[in-house]
Amino acid sequence: MTTHTLPPPPWPFPTLPQELRFLEDIDHVMEAPELVRLASRIRDTGAWRDYLVERHEYRDYRLVFENEYTDIWVLSWLPGQTTGFHDHDVSQVGIAVLQGEIRESHMHMGGEPPTSHVMRAGDTQEGPYGYIHQVQHEDGALAASLHAYSPPLMRVGQYRERDGRMIRLPEPGRTRLTPG
Ligand SMILES: [Fe+2]
Repeated sequence: MTTHTLPPPPWPFPTLPQELRFLEDIDHVMEAPELVRLASRIRDTGAWRDYLVERHEYRDYRLVFENEYTDIWVLSWLPGQTTGFHDHDVSQVGIAVLQGEIRESHMHMGGEPPTSHVMRAGDTQEGPYGYIHQVQHEDGALAASLHAYSPPLMRVGQYRERDGRMIRLPEPGRTRLTPG
């Protein structure tokens, strides 16, 4: 097992900056389009810069906010850092790239190889129910993206090869996803 489980985050969030206090008003489960709008709004505040983390040993991320309807993270990416393919169980996700470039990949049925696209600062991506993807660093000394999940990301499915077959490993939502 190469995953690492993070300790629970602090609660409440005494350091939630003034420009992000609107997050405390979130009172419903959101679908991907609304999550993208939320992620973009957070991006536009610039407050995400305080959540960047440059850790070369492993991919790292910081919790911005959570309540019973959502959890919101700033993910930092350095060269070589990737999630591997995974799903978000019952959660939907909205992604906004904050700085640098990341590459998102998708698997396909029928034996076709994965396809991917580069996302740059300002780009967004909806991850509706059932979404499977891989995210990795593409360019920029430190790339960063904001990921808003709803309902909170309590569980993920990490895809692995076992004896030539693909399996899905259920993992806690705060597992540090890795390619294998
Ligand atoms: Fe994901």
